[in-house]
Order: sequence, then structure tokens, then C-alpha cells
Amino acid sequence: MSIQFGAYTKSIKIIHTSNSSSYSIFCSLLNKILDGKNHGLQIRVRSGGHDYEGLSYLYKTPFIIVDLINLRSVEINLEDETASVQSGATLGELYYSISKESGIHGFPTGLYPSVGVGGHLSSGGFGTLLRKYGLEADNVLDAYLIDVNGKIVDRESMGEDLFWAIRGGGGASFGIILSWKIKLVRVPQVVTGITISKTLEQGATKLVSKWQYIADKLHEDLFIRVVIRVVGNGTQKTVHASFNSIFLGGVERLISLINESFPELGLQVQDCIEMSWIQSVLYFTGYQNGDPLEVLLDRNTLYKSFFKAKSDYVEKPISDIGLEGIWERFLKEEMVFMIMDPYGGRMNEISESETPFPHRKGSLYNIQYLVKWEVNGIVASKKHVHWIRMLYKYMKPYVSKYPRAAYLNYRDLDLGINKKGNTSYSEARVWGVKYFKGNFKRLAQVKSKIDPNNFFRNEQSIPLLPATI
Ligand code: FDA
Repeated sequence: MSIQFGAYTKSIKIIHTSNSSSYSIFCSLLNKILDGKNHGLQIRVRSGGHDYEGLSYLYKTPFIIVDLINLRSVEINLEDETASVQSGATLGELYYSISKESGIHGFPTGLYPSVGVGGHLSSGGFGTLLRKYGLEADNVLDAYLIDVNGKIVDRESMGEDLFWAIRGGGGASFGIILSWKIKLVRVPQVVTGITISKTLEQGATKLVSKWQYIADKLHEDLFIRVVIRVVGNGTQKTVHASFNSIFLGGVERLISLINESFPELGLQVQDCIEMSWIQSVLYFTGYQNGDPLEVLLDRNTLYKSFFKAKSDYVEKPISDIGLEGIWERFLKEEMVFMIMDPYGGRMNEISESETPFPHRKGSLYNIQYLVKWEVNGIVASKKHVHWIRMLYKYMKPYVSKYPRAAYLNYRDLDLGINKKGNTSYSEARVWGVKYFKGNFKRLAQVKSKIDPNNFFRNEQSIPLLPATI
């Protein structure tokens, strides 16, 4: 763990190990920082540093970064099928550690290896096992957190309200989460990957349209994501839909399931690749067949570019006319993506209030819109950000309403920000209900109870609940 003083050049490495005595050294240091609460310094906690709006490492005035990069151990216990994972570990480190111990265990976490467990899990976290096992946050048994009094608490001593809040409500509003005890899940020895891509000319619209009706109703062993992008240039430019799937089983069963519910995909045996579950993690991230598992340990991101993202939830399939309007807008940009992740399965069985993450039954799929650009600069970024905001405006009639829901891990400050200094609950509701729906009020109640002076705060932290509400 290291503490850095933002806006100053000095970076102080304090703790490099991860045993309990190092926690207590850290706690006493933190207590000193907390003693300075009134000096107005803000704390930013960073695990993997992938926050879409940089909330873990950016702030306008002097601030402190608590960087958990050295708190990254993963201990697997196959006897009770659990693991203890420190927040600074990456998803890749977690996947890798599980695979070294077992070929039949996995964990339902995200798709990108360098993402940090701390930020990802505390805001939900999903990947290809979502339809079978739910979110990463749905599979947590315990957590260790440094609270606003500088004390380390576990599930029992923090209480069920706070334990509920940090499984989807975002950790940064509530303390510094050091580690998690998670429940491993069973995966088969053989899984099957498929990637089938079609352009508009090859009938992509009809396929995407059909996918919307069936993707959330398929067998829970089957996860089919759609990625829309633009390919080619000039008169050759077209929209391209890629159907990327992991099936928890072998080719034969997969083909029979697809032929039953999605024959239009035209799946053939030669489109299918059988592999181990851990290889499917590499496959889905875009690594080449034959890349060693050790690539999972690389903490650097594979793709580096500037980007802006936004998200939506779809509750009714979008009409063909609606889809064609999206394609029209895509063809006016270059590096644009729309990632559609199907829900259903286990997600339908968990109630909206079980964790702060409310997007359960009724959400057919999640959309992440992304626009990327390579040249930094205000003019370039303004143009691309404007494009994505216009696309978001266009999507309004086709996506969830009252509230227009969004996914916290695809952080979007366009939805609203807390005013500097004092956070008003009623103002924060504007963005809060989009991320949390009816759970926002309970999050504010928990926040008021455990951090009444709003010490842990940022542009989208949970506000205090006024006594009158
Ligand atoms: P970071 O360290 O920036 O933290 C994010 C937020 O959590 C910040 O507010 C931070 O202060 C807080 N925080 C972090 N650690 C904390 C701790 N220990 N205690 C308290 N607060 C803490 N999502 C998904 O669900 N599925 C996916 O497949 C992907 N894929 C993906 C790919 C790529 C390339 C990116 C950049 C992002 C994703 N995401 C994703 C989104 C990702 O889950 C999201 O950005 C996470 O918040 C990142 O967590 P980090 O710990 O890396 O970020």
C-alpha cells in the first residue's frame, strides 16, 4: 500500500507487505490523516485505477491518494471453495490464482485483466458468468474495511447495512476496503467460445434484432454478447456486429441450444473452439490462442486511448428503425463501440434490493457506448464527447425510463455531480437513482450513520440523508 499526496510531487511508499501488522501500521498513519479531517484534504482510494472519470486519482485541489497496489495477495481455499483477495489485486491476478489451484473453479468477475478488484467489486462487477452466477458482488461472504474512525472492521463488526452498501454502492463513499472473502463457483472443465461477425450487408440488423428477444432467455450456461463497431473507410465503411459467446459446456450441446433458439446465427462446428474456462478468459479479452496465462498478471492496459463512455439498460427490444438510427450515427464516427451484455438467468432471481445494484429482472440487456480517440486536446475531445452525448440523446425513447438507469462501474459524470464541499441529497438523487434506483435512499441512510461528517467523498459519492427525509 502506498500513500501519495496528490498535487504534490512527493510519493511516499509506506507499506509493501500485506500482513496484519502492516494493516495496523497503515491504520495508525490513517488516523493521523483523519485527525486532519478539518483541513479539507480529500482521500482518493485507488485499486486498479480504471475509474472511467479518474475519480480514484484526480482532483482539482490537493488531495491524498491511498494506492492499494501492493495489497494484492490472493489466497485460495478449495476446502470450503472460498478465496481471500485483497482489493489491490487485479481481476487477472484473481483469475490466474484460481486457475493455478483448480481447473473446475472460477469467479463471476469482469472481462478485463488489469481492472482492480477494489473498484470493480464494490460497484457490482460482471463478466461472462453473469447469467449463471450473477455479479461479483453477489458472491461475497465477508470484507475488511478501514472505517472513518481508522478502525479495521469485518462483516460482523461493520454490520449488515455497511456490508450491503459496499457490494454495489461503490466503496469510495464508505471507507477503504482492504480485502474480500469471496465464494468461488464451479465451472466445467471444457467450455466453448464462439465469435461470429456480420456486417450490415450480411444481415447484421436482423441478427441484432433477434438477439434482443432471446439473449436474456437462453440457457443460463450461455452468454452471448454483441459488440457493434465501424469497419472499413470511405464508401466501404459499414457497421459490424460481433456475437461473442462463452458456453459452459461442449460444442455438441451448444449447437443444439443455438439451433433451437437462434438458428439465424448459422452456427457451424468450425465456428466453435473448445477450451478450459481460464483460456476462455483470455479468449474473451482478445488475447491470441497460445498466449501464456501469465498475460493475466500484466497490470498495464492492453489498449491505451482517450475515451468517453455512457451506459443504458434496455427493457423492451429496440425496433429495426431504432437500430438503423444507431448505425447511421455510428457511420459518422470512427472508433465507436456499443457493447450489449445480456442479463436474465441468475440476475432475474436476485431482488433489486438484495444489493445496491438494482438492475435485475426486467433488464434485458446493458449497453455500454464508447467513443475513443488517439490525439489528446480540447478540440478533439469536445467533438467526440459531443458525438456520444448526441447518441445518448437519440437513445432516450428506446431505453429504460423513470429512471433512465446506468451502471456505476461505467462511471459517467454527465449524469450529475456533487457540489464541491456540501453534498445535497436532493441534488444527488438526479444521478443516484439512475445508478441505484430505490436503493439510493438506503445508501444515504448508511452513509449518514457511518460517516456523518462526509469525510469519504468525491464527485459522485453517496450524500448524507437529511433528518427530514
Ligand atoms: P479505481 O481504482 O479507479 O477505483 C474505482 C472507484 O472505486 C474509485 O471511486 C475508487 O476510489 C473506488 N475504490 C477503488 N478501490 C477501493 C477500495 N479498496 N476501497 C474503497 N473504494 C475503492 N466493468 C465490469 O463490470 N465488467 C467488465 O468486464 C469491465 N471491463 C472493463 C474494461 C476496461 C478496459 C475498463 C477500463 C473498465 C472495465 N470495467 C468493467 C469497469 C470497471 O469495473 C470499473 O472501471 C471499476 O470501477 C474499476 O475498478 P479499479 O479498482 O480498477 O478502479
